[in-house]
Amino acid sequence: MTREELRTDIAIILDRARKRTSLLTETVSDEELCAQHSPLMSPLVWDLAHIGNQEELWLVRDLGGREPVRKDIDELYDAFQHPRASRPQLPLLSPSEARGYVRTVRDKVLDVLDHTPLYGTPLSDHGFAFGMIAQHEQQHDETMLATHQLRRGSAALHAAPPPPKSAAVGGEAVVPAGPFEMGTSSDPWALDNERPAHNVHVDAFAIARAPVTNGEYIEFIGDGGYSRSGLWSEAGWAHRNASDLTAPLFWRQDSDGVWWRRRFGLVEEVPLDEPVVHVSFHEAEAFARWAGKRLPTEAEWEKAARWDPTTGRSRRYPWGDEAPSAERANLGQRHLQPATVGAYPAGASPLGVHQLIGDVWEWTSTHFRGYPGFRYFPYAEYSEVFFGTAHRVLRGGSFGTDEVAVRGTFRNWDYPVRRQIFAGFRLARDAEQDENI
Ligand SMILES: [Fe+2]
Repeated sequence: MTREELRTDIAIILDRARKRTSLLTETVSDEELCAQHSPLMSPLVWDLAHIGNQEELWLVRDLGGREPVRKDIDELYDAFQHPRASRPQLPLLSPSEARGYVRTVRDKVLDVLDHTPLYGTPLSDHGFAFGMIAQHEQQHDETMLATHQLRRGSAALHAAPPPPKSAAVGGEAVVPAGPFEMGTSSDPWALDNERPAHNVHVDAFAIARAPVTNGEYIEFIGDGGYSRSGLWSEAGWAHRNASDLTAPLFWRQDSDGVWWRRRFGLVEEVPLDEPVVHVSFHEAEAFARWAGKRLPTEAEWEKAARWDPTTGRSRRYPWGDEAPSAERANLGQRHLQPATVGAYPAGASPLGVHQLIGDVWEWTSTHFRGYPGFRYFPYAEYSEVFFGTAHRVLRGGSFGTDEVAVRGTFRNWDYPVRRQIFAGFRLARDAEQDENI
């Protein structure tokens, strides 16, 4: 790719993110933009100006070396200064001020893009800082989509339903013991926590070809899954009791025993063949124990998603190195729900594991830590400060994740109690080396 092609690509990717941000912030009233729909979330107007502020910090000031636009608001929009619950009390920019601010910043950024060499420093190489900022905006767009899901009231967002099932998908794939290359040292826009590439030995394991569905989850509920302490970890059981969990978030059961869910302002019967979403790590773990299985480790998930048994090479995506498409994965808020299991045969891995990218983030059993040789870049607050035992890793992206912000190496993390994110899971188990099913 030439520098000019890269510049054009970056402009398109930045514009795609901004169109989505606009959609998410223009489909509700100014009053709703400033309201807090859940203590877990920021007011949408905070996300909007924060997106602009990060873009200003990294692209206008740092990479571009330009004068600040609004240095006075840096502190307001620093995520580390103010927890989400306290953000509505801050003297935030109004919706029209925030819109004007992000527009001004973007105009300057496009000028920086025209004049900055896209090589020569770690921040500018292959346009890394632009890629980081595009991913940041898309990540906030997914967070804002979760805020839309939490908000009450009639539907504000609309999208076509995902494609129907076109392949029968069930059972497990067995992945033989052996090493594979995990992480990346070469993907130009990979974030610090995905680096460096390193060899990992993974014992033989079996992994479900599809995520756990709503129908399977209803069986777990019906079999007393939420009332059998033996299925839960100690922390999970304590949380289940403290929060009185009885079903995924946004679900309720009517007097005839039928399960309903609220989805972006619509109430509908829970579709049985769709991957379950809005479950916490603790619920996923309890389900796995009930099923006689376990959650995959992060390394198992990545090997299932990237390892090509023919060449031994790790690919960028389950289907190969080519970019995601509408036929391969349910990404980018193209649809407002996960697709039925079997809807994306073109996105399967060589071992026949489906829907690893898109649909739902998948909880793994692994705590979020740096890979061997990890070095923070460009700042420790990006991921290093979250390393430890407080967070579990999620993989694969959801229907609300843009393709710029997910790949086979991409790592997300969250607290094990979180349910407002678009997260589900799939099952795994130990396998015998000579096992083949
Ligand atoms: Fe942020």
